[in-house]
Amino acid sequence: MLIHVYHGPNLNRLEQRDAHHYGAVDLKTINHKLRGLAAQLEVDIETRQTNREGELIDWIQQEDKDGLLLNAAAYTHTSVGLRDAIELVDYPVVEVHLSNIYAREEFRHHSLISPVCLGQISGFGAASYLLGLQAVVDHLSA
Ligand code: DQA
Repeated sequence: MLIHVYHGPNLNRLEQRDAHHYGAVDLKTINHKLRGLAAQLEVDIETRQTNREGELIDWIQQEDKDGLLLNAAAYTHTSVGLRDAIELVDYPVVEVHLSNIYAREEFRHHSLISPVCLGQISGFGAASYLLGLQAVVDHLSA
């Protein structure tokens, strides 16, 4: 089973962002934790980061994986293109956020992608990704 993980815009600078919202963790550490859990679950994992909306859409369109964990970051709240891309794929997509988007500014309360995702995990810091990986693997194994 192959699971992809895509980190969206500005997550490459996580260590410079507000630790109150995101925790004191960088992307390298999150990816390391994900690889550890993937090994335990005996699944393959590939992690990528991009700041570009079109690149995320191109990656999503490729049916080369069994499932996807997606932290679309700011595009969560703005991108109809991302939503339309997710709606068209056959594999499950789990929406992930480090912070609790509903406890923050109002413009973050609405996710355009939630209705086309299998589910959403928000607010648990790096653990959101680990819970998401467990969830997508459980779903695919069921
Ligand atoms: C985020 C939440 C978004 O609102 C924000 O734009 C991000 C990160 C999160 O992981 O909590 O960049 O997706």
